[in-house]
Amino acid sequence: MAASKEQIIAALSKSFSMEVETVINYLANSLDLEGVRAEFIKQALATDIQEELTHAQQIGNRIKQLGGSVPGSLSLQFNQKSLQPPRDTTDVLTVIKGVLAAEEDAIAQYNAVIKLTDGVDYVTQDLAITLLGQEEAHRQQFEGYLKEYMKS
Ligand SMILES: [Fe+2]
Ligand SMILES: [Fe+2]
Repeated sequence: MAASKEQIIAALSKSFSMEVETVINYLANSLDLEGVRAEFIKQALATDIQEELTHAQQIGNRIKQLGGSVPGSLSLQFNQKSLQPPRDTTDVLTVIKGVLAAEEDAIAQYNAVIKLTDGVDYVTQDLAITLLGQEEAHRQQFEGYLKEYMKS
């Protein structure tokens, strides 16, 4: 059965919420981590904040084009447990694994949007494909960091 506009807006609202939560947690971890080994990851996260924020803006823009409304903070539902700053502020490995989990979630969500919009809404599908590619690039970047951290 073809997806309705409401279903597509709901899926985009979920994506928007996930992007905003990722921004918040990348921001927190980019500031909260400490130590020599953390500096590089802090920088990488600081850069990704801007990219994830751009994703939220692009999705919000598409929600408006479809006639929906963009949720404010009280309407957002957050549950990104894996990316809460670790108690040990030098525990870079936990943050890298948390980032990978967040990117996997984003990848799964964009794949779902791509399927949902197939044959129905090619503009949303095109946006989801673009964002999927960028999340896969993030995943590859942090898989590389994980490889190096697992060695030491
Ligand atoms: Fe994103
Ligand atoms: Fe990402």
